[in-house]
Amino acid sequence: MHSLLAARNLDKGFPRAGGEVAVLQGCDFRLAEGEAVAVMGASGAGKSTLLNILGGLDTPTAGQVLSNGAELAFDDHKAMAEWRSRGVGFIFQFHFLLPDFTALENLLLPVRTRGKVTDADRQRALDFLTTMELADRRDHLPGELSGGEQQRVAIARAFMNRPRIVLADEPFGNLDHEIGRRLGDMLFQLRATERTSLVIVTHDPQLAARADRTLVLQDKRLLPAEGSLR
Ligand SMILES: Nc1ncnc2c1ncn2[C@@H]1O[C@H](COP(=O)(O)OP(=O)(O)OP(=O)(O)O)[C@@H](O)[C@H]1O
Ligand SMILES: [Mg+2]
Repeated sequence: MHSLLAARNLDKGFPRAGGEVAVLQGCDFRLAEGEAVAVMGASGAGKSTLLNILGGLDTPTAGQVLSNGAELAFDDHKAMAEWRSRGVGFIFQFHFLLPDFTALENLLLPVRTRGKVTDADRQRALDFLTTMELADRRDHLPGELSGGEQQRVAIARAFMNRPRIVLADEPFGNLDHEIGRRLGDMLFQLRATERTSLVIVTHDPQLAARADRTLVLQDKRLLPAEGSLR
């Protein structure tokens, strides 16, 4: 059985004046179908770098990323964009909603990028807004929403194209702790009903504990967290 997503022997360095900064070195990763994995680690350890590579937003210096056993061709930009738009949803620390589009329109953008928006898509977006307790905010622009509300739209948006994988990079890092917890509930609820695999970078051990297992990015590699089940 192939992993839904895997990385083998990843290296990533950033060129700098006076020599390269090595961020990942011999880093391995596997995500099974339906699995939720939390990634923790110190600031600057390389968590965002890793997540960007796993989602095809950045290129490794060496090593492979495999989707269902097939190696991603990072230099084929068209194929990568297609793979991302079909298979991967992203949630970042900053919501990246488009400011001139309403909450509902922002939710429909990933669908629009791929083709025509159907009534079923619109209904799905409205259902997501209801799940996120934002039904009465559908026509609001991002600037008319609170930080937590904006991030709830961003969470729902990540699931719109029925991705098999959602990658979340400290999605609640900017929010009040209580609100972050509540949004964590919503994210894990959505992932359960949509049966989506999840990789979530977080500094919050309680949020990490909701995942099936926790890894720590340390010394440029991913290691099982102490006390993690596997
Ligand atoms: N474009 C870049 N050029 C040079 N160095 C970079 C670049 N992007 C990241 N780095 C370096 O790579 C290292 C890892 O950065 P990364 O953003 O992946 O860390 P992180 O674990 O996500 O940290 P945080 O928890 O603060 O978000 C850092 O030391 C950073 O300075
Ligand atoms: Mg980061």
